[in-house]
Amino acid sequence: MTNKKEMRELILNIFNTRYACKGYDPEKKVSEEDFKVIMEAARLSPSSMGLEPWKFVLLNNKDIKEKIRPYAWGAEVSLAGASHFVLILARKPIDMKYDSDYIEYMMNDVQHFTDELRAVRKNKLKDFQEKDLKLLESERVFFEWVCRQTYIPLANMLTAAAMLGVDSTPMEGFNYDQVEKILIEEGVIDPEHFGLSCMIAFGYKNRDHRPKTRRKMEAVLEIIE
Ligand SMILES: Cc1cc2nc3c(=O)[nH]c(=O)nc-3n(C[C@H](O)[C@H](O)[C@H](O)COP(=O)(O)O)c2cc1C
Repeated sequence: MTNKKEMRELILNIFNTRYACKGYDPEKKVSEEDFKVIMEAARLSPSSMGLEPWKFVLLNNKDIKEKIRPYAWGAEVSLAGASHFVLILARKPIDMKYDSDYIEYMMNDVQHFTDELRAVRKNKLKDFQEKDLKLLESERVFFEWVCRQTYIPLANMLTAAAMLGVDSTPMEGFNYDQVEKILIEEGVIDPEHFGLSCMIAFGYKNRDHRPKTRRKMEAVLEIIE
């Protein structure tokens, strides 16, 4: 069992040595055991009211990867050599609105709330979506709220991969309209329920990283007494 001091060192070491991989060795594959753990880190991620507004797609199809490549500059090296390439999809407002079938399914079948508690939670969600976040004013604003949440599993996957010694790349460097169009045409995305939020790749690097650059703690943390 690691003690607190060792745990602190371990955490700092993981965050200091995680890099966005900018070149993959196509010969090196991530083991199924490691990939499963990385995906568990995604699945177990927190979300607003626990509504899990995402879906992950492991894209192995070479033809589809080739088709999206011209429109995904930020994914060039990952599409070429990464062992695993995952799309992170965000649910559309039709599913995430307080009165949708999906919300009913989540609160009933997954969260197992009683009828009474479901009614209370849905009312809370309605107020939250309508008044606090003002999501109902525009489909785009609503969808962006969902996309924001998908960056939590994205981050957890990056950290889980780093803990396992697996290199990874988070990606949003692509033309959303073009890439989404291809993924819809190829039957990867059902546009009624999902939109593309971001991507993540896993594998093993084939070149050294640039040394990590970050601002100092004093520049990013302000303490108000
Ligand atoms: C939301 C997000 C989107 C990113 N998109 C890309 C991308 O499309 N392609 C890429 O190679 N790197 C991408 N990166 C990686 C960043 O360039 C990298 O995290 C940053 O330069 C800091 O370096 P480090 O992660 O190695 O510490 C992205 C990172 C984040 C968090």
